Amino acid sequence: MSKEFEGKVALVTGAASPIGLGRAISNRLASHGATLVVVDLNQEKIDQAAKDLENQYGIKALGIACNVTKPEDCDNAITKVKDVFGKLDILVNNAGVLKDNLVMRMSEADFDFVMDVNCKGVFLMTKSATKLILKAESGRIVNISSVSGLTGQPGQANYSASKAAVIALTKVFAREFSGRNVLVNAVCPGFVITEMTGKLPDEVQKKLTDPAVIPLKRPGKQEEIASAVKFFCSDDASYITGTYLRVDGGAAIGM
Ligand SMILES: NC(=O)c1ccc[n+]([C@@H]2O[C@H](COP(=O)([O-])OP(=O)(O)OC[C@H]3O[C@@H](n4cnc5c(N)ncnc54)[C@H](O)[C@@H]3O)[C@@H](O)[C@H]2O)c1
Repeated sequence: MSKEFEGKVALVTGAASPIGLGRAISNRLASHGATLVVVDLNQEKIDQAAKDLENQYGIKALGIACNVTKPEDCDNAITKVKDVFGKLDILVNNAGVLKDNLVMRMSEADFDFVMDVNCKGVFLMTKSATKLILKAESGRIVNISSVSGLTGQPGQANYSASKAAVIALTKVFAREFSGRNVLVNAVCPGFVITEMTGKLPDEVQKKLTDPAVIPLKRPGKQEEIASAVKFFCSDDASYITGTYLRVDGGAAIGM
């Protein structure tokens, strides 16, 4: 395996779940030699994730408990990265939540909760990270959006709006940070079975894997999302900024 990220420090938010996209992304970056800072809500769980990464890939990893909706948590996390590793080369804003309901039944609290984590969380963590990542003069930021942010999904007013906002933030960051050679892109996954989507009712999950919905006729694998993130972080993507890549088995062709 090439060690193309050796000497790079990467921070991935929402990386605690062993079957989550954040963990798969962390695994992929670690497998190419990156030092990993993994961030999630629960200290014990994220410490375990860091330990697993160290054991599996022989790299250095640090777990930090951080709620991305809290500016002081984001600042503390970045200060810790600076103290321990002295730099930050890659930021992956992956933390996210779902709280589906039809518009007529969706509470304001559920709308705000999802916008807070999925949209404001990306803004706050990126804002804190600028203190370090702009210094790298070759940094990469990858935001995890969703096809739901491109198509709009019934039952997901909050989620679709938040993920569309992530694409807008990606474009703003790409323009603002280009002078420091920090490239910013988004990945829009389709349907992947994780703790988040495992909670969806069976009939919704069945509908999501219907061949009429997904031309490739199956859910995505965590590793397939990680491949797109790895690409955006690699030298192969050195002239790409401010765009998004759908990894969705064709679910949102044309978007
Ligand atoms: N699974 C899918 O089908 C799918 C599709 C499109 C997009 N996505 C996006 O991919 C990302 C990862 O989702 P997943 O499916 O792996 O779900 P997941 O629930 O396994 O992972 C999300 C992680 O984010 C963490 N998190 C939640 N709120 C947080 C906060 N305030 N601060 C810090 N961490 C927080 C959770 O604890 C969890 O570990 C999310 O942004 C999600 O919206 C997932």
